[in-house]
Amino acid sequence: MELKALGYLGVDTTDLDGWRAYGSRFLGLQLTDSVSDSMAFRMDDRRQRLTVSNANRNGLGFMGWEVTDALHLDRFAARLEKAHVKISRGSRALCEQRQVRDLVVFADPVGNRLEVYHGLADAGTPFTPGRTMSGFRTGDMGIGHVVLTVPNAAQILPFYRDLLGFRLSDYFERPFKAVFMHLNQRHHSLAILETGEVGIHHLMFETLSLDDVGQAYDLALVDEGRIATTLGRHTNDQVVSFYAKSPSGFLVECGWGGLAINPETWQPYEVVHGPSFWGHDRNWLPPEGQEDARRIRMAAAQNGARANVNVIEGLFNVTKC
Ligand SMILES: [Fe+2]
Repeated sequence: MELKALGYLGVDTTDLDGWRAYGSRFLGLQLTDSVSDSMAFRMDDRRQRLTVSNANRNGLGFMGWEVTDALHLDRFAARLEKAHVKISRGSRALCEQRQVRDLVVFADPVGNRLEVYHGLADAGTPFTPGRTMSGFRTGDMGIGHVVLTVPNAAQILPFYRDLLGFRLSDYFERPFKAVFMHLNQRHHSLAILETGEVGIHHLMFETLSLDDVGQAYDLALVDEGRIATTLGRHTNDQVVSFYAKSPSGFLVECGWGGLAINPETWQPYEVVHGPSFWGHDRNWLPPEGQEDARRIRMAAAQNGARANVNVIEGLFNVTKC
């Protein structure tokens, strides 16, 4: 796979001030650079991972997908051109803004801006979270995942799967249509959700400790209207998470314990027992959708749906009983 991982994200907002506190004091990102019309956050050893820009719209600004080096970037650009996708080479100024060696820019069929890059700069100093927490699981698995909303999932799937090289992880037909795709061990770096509208549903960042998610949940509980999806555990990527409304309106999923798959042997399948083992009451679904999701979940629980927790080397104790 030429694309290796989700490496950075850009968000547009009409509420830049809101993001300052949300990004650092709630999510735990490190604010590194703040000017009048944008701000940048770190989440690991790299110089920046999330850029938030002042805009007259709210939504996804861009997605940054990593390739290994200049050779892979050229090869990738040539493949897009051959498929008649209009691309532009990133200027020096844009590379500087993104803190990368080189990049190309293009759009998906519904107009989302994608950037493919190599050489995201190291920070050279340790990551210091914006609130006391353990840090984020990134590295080869990338910074997390993005879930886009689209009018028709079947129409956009060939672009991401056949042209860009994402591999299918699994898909749902109920309680909503969704397709999940991977590039590396992370179960999905990208998903598309069929809602009828073009947009972004959520971003997911994965913390190193389960307690980081619980402590963020406490912060969200005392902030009325912040929680959009209650604490729960997903059936496919197995994260324990909740979803918090961002100052841009879309959601951010605070997760822990994601499944690491083997991309060489993984076989895609239809998830028929719903998106969650438990929890994840979605107040953004219509009442009948929420009811349907609860019914599917309870039936799955009754049928014994559960999975082992996924732990990170060095961050667990085994209790013998
Ligand atoms: Fe998610």
